Amino acid sequence: MVILLDYDIRDIQLAGEGKLRIEWAEMQMPVVKLIKERFEKEKPLEGVRIAACLHVTSETANLLDALKKGGASVVVCASNPLSTQDDVAASLVKDFEIPVYAIKGEDNQTYYEHINAVLDTMPHITMDDGGDLVSTIHSKRKDVLENIIAGTEETTTGVIRFRSMENQGVLKYPIIAVNDAKTKHFFDNRYGTGQSTIDGILRATNILLAGKNFVVCGYGWCGRGLSMRARGMGANVIVVEVDPLKALEAVMDGYRVMPLLEAAKIGDIFVTVTGDTSVIRREHFEVMKNGAILANSGHFNVEISISDLEELSNRKRRIRNNVDEYTLKDGRRIFLLGEGRLINLAAAEGHPAAVMDMSFANQALCAEYIKKEGKRLESRVYSVPEEIDKKVAKMKLESMGIKIDKLTPEQEKYLKSWELGT
Ligand code: ADE
Repeated sequence: MVILLDYDIRDIQLAGEGKLRIEWAEMQMPVVKLIKERFEKEKPLEGVRIAACLHVTSETANLLDALKKGGASVVVCASNPLSTQDDVAASLVKDFEIPVYAIKGEDNQTYYEHINAVLDTMPHITMDDGGDLVSTIHSKRKDVLENIIAGTEETTTGVIRFRSMENQGVLKYPIIAVNDAKTKHFFDNRYGTGQSTIDGILRATNILLAGKNFVVCGYGWCGRGLSMRARGMGANVIVVEVDPLKALEAVMDGYRVMPLLEAAKIGDIFVTVTGDTSVIRREHFEVMKNGAILANSGHFNVEISISDLEELSNRKRRIRNNVDEYTLKDGRRIFLLGEGRLINLAAAEGHPAAVMDMSFANQALCAEYIKKEGKRLESRVYSVPEEIDKKVAKMKLESMGIKIDKLTPEQEKYLKSWELGT
């Protein structure tokens, strides 16, 4: 078979394995599958060019397939240098004829060359995860702006970046914050990150979690999910938070809450899920126990200060795949997983398909919404329309064979009235 697409991937020979993985994921993605089937019939995205910057995984492949079946022309690059599944990338090119620019382990320069390659297609819609695609457009590729109708953003970090662009008056086109859909962050961020972060840590280290002091930095939706799952494995969870409300919630959820400097002295495993920079830094490394393990599950590799760790160390070696051992000048050894990049995608396979089903159903339906309504939108960050969010929840429940009750007319009336009291 002659492949006529332009692409940059590890090895096209890996396509066979990738195809099977994509098929496996599809079985766990019934909502995306139903959308795919409808899109194939109705072609709601005919004539639309979509540039995606997403983690190139088997779940993403199913989203891209749905968009393509809907009539869009689709191209994808990686949203993180370590998250690409090279076999999936190969299958996307070979079996789905979707141009892919993504190689697991690519360096920074290649990462941005790949972003530029997808932008060269002059997209109408951008689909971003973390904000690097949109920020590149706004800084170095303004030539692309003239064709763009709107974009979507998959994750908390990207939404925060775009809100800050909106507030500074520099955002040049509308963005729909897919992350903020309830059917996204209640499930993907909580259950997806919760499970897949533990999965990444265990695949990298094979350590026993039971009885360990497991420090979770950040009690957003990801931190809540991670704390819940770590406790389920028998760990003693300690939560570190800066927001009093979230800290209080963690206390009432039954976790110990304390400043990181205190937790640093007793923690066995530390995971950052804050979205902020230099959360674990020099002062914390200085008091950590010998053998402490560090991982990050936030979008960027800035949460653990690797430069501080390097300055404090006089030796670094890779002791296992995804585990770097830093020997500090006083002889203590600290282990950093996945180079501080999101551990669930660096060392495992990211969120399970069953949660990505909802996240990506939102993405597909938002692309359809942008095609229909995008020209009316202003250069702002928008929520996912409530009808889409509700539709995804309904479809997911139906796919699980779960039925729920409806309000009676009397109950509906009661909820709308204010006159009735005691
Ligand atoms: N983000 C987290 N997990 C993911 C996955 N499995 N696929 C795509 N994006 C993800």
